[in-house]
Amino acid sequence: MNKSYPNTRMRRNRSAKFIRNLVRETSFSVDDLIYPVFILPGKKKKEPIKSMPGKNRYSVDILLPIIGKLHKKGLNAIALFPVVGKEKKSKDAKEAFNSRGLVQSAVKKIKKEYPNLGIITDIALDPYTLSGHDGIVDKDGYVLNDKTVNVLTKQALSHAEAGADIVAPSDMMDGRILSIRKAFEKNKYHNIKILSYAAKYASNFYGPFRDAVDSSKNLNDSSKETYQMDFANITESSLEINLDVNEGADIVIIKPGLPYLDIVSKIKKEFSIPIFSYHVSGEYSMIKTAALNNCINEKESVIEAMYCFKRAGCSAILTYYTPEIIEWLKSN
Ligand code: PBG
Repeated sequence: MNKSYPNTRMRRNRSAKFIRNLVRETSFSVDDLIYPVFILPGKKKKEPIKSMPGKNRYSVDILLPIIGKLHKKGLNAIALFPVVGKEKKSKDAKEAFNSRGLVQSAVKKIKKEYPNLGIITDIALDPYTLSGHDGIVDKDGYVLNDKTVNVLTKQALSHAEAGADIVAPSDMMDGRILSIRKAFEKNKYHNIKILSYAAKYASNFYGPFRDAVDSSKNLNDSSKETYQMDFANITESSLEINLDVNEGADIVIIKPGLPYLDIVSKIKKEFSIPIFSYHVSGEYSMIKTAALNNCINEKESVIEAMYCFKRAGCSAILTYYTPEIIEWLKSN
């Protein structure tokens, strides 16, 4: 291509709204959204999350009508994150696979009300361990891989039994996708999808989430760097994705979101598998607090961020902004 001025004026195709609409390369709609929600045990509970202004944790009875309304407006799926009481946390995290646990019973209740709403459950042990880590620790605090995979597999099976549509291992243990896939095949859960957090970085942007699920106190400044990826690395993301695809993942997540779109764009070129991204808690809170301080236009910035995810190659985005976006898209 040998294009030059003035035969080519890039501004011609930007000169009016109709032409901008016609040449736009990516689209974004409610179809692309997944709403992550924090659930509390008990009834009639609604607790604000301090580090995520505007967001709450809900007991399931209160959550039901909220997600019902969103589902009616087109929301396809939610992702559940439990807030587990101190008394249920243990060294071996056995509450994670309690068939009557908070997540398992929430899945049953939500499925009963809204059978067509996709339910994604988190596979990781951080809500259930005393250490606040995603796995079982040894006496030195090191997260034991194979022992953890064992528990994660039981957890995934218990979610499948409850009726989850998609299980999402976010723990970064080696081999957990294969182990869960084998267990699903053996138990005839052929259509339950595994959404693998295949490239998950040890990120500071998860801070507010750890407050929301009450795991920061337990973590007590200990980091997840022995299992989550080093944010300075790019090459190993391909290895991670390759392993999880071969072990039986149906979709992969790259996480966090906006600061890691270089990884999304690379993986999109290298692999033929759907990619989701997680616009994580810290990213939510950054936009939110900037907007509350009148530094940016909240609606326009969030919509722009969603297009950035799509442009990089994401099929869907997990974002706490889902309810707001659904309202904004409606009023456009
Ligand atoms: C833990 C988990 C985390 C998030 C989702 N699952 C936090 C962590 O790895 O410490 C973060 C999500 C967010 O920040 O919004 N299994």
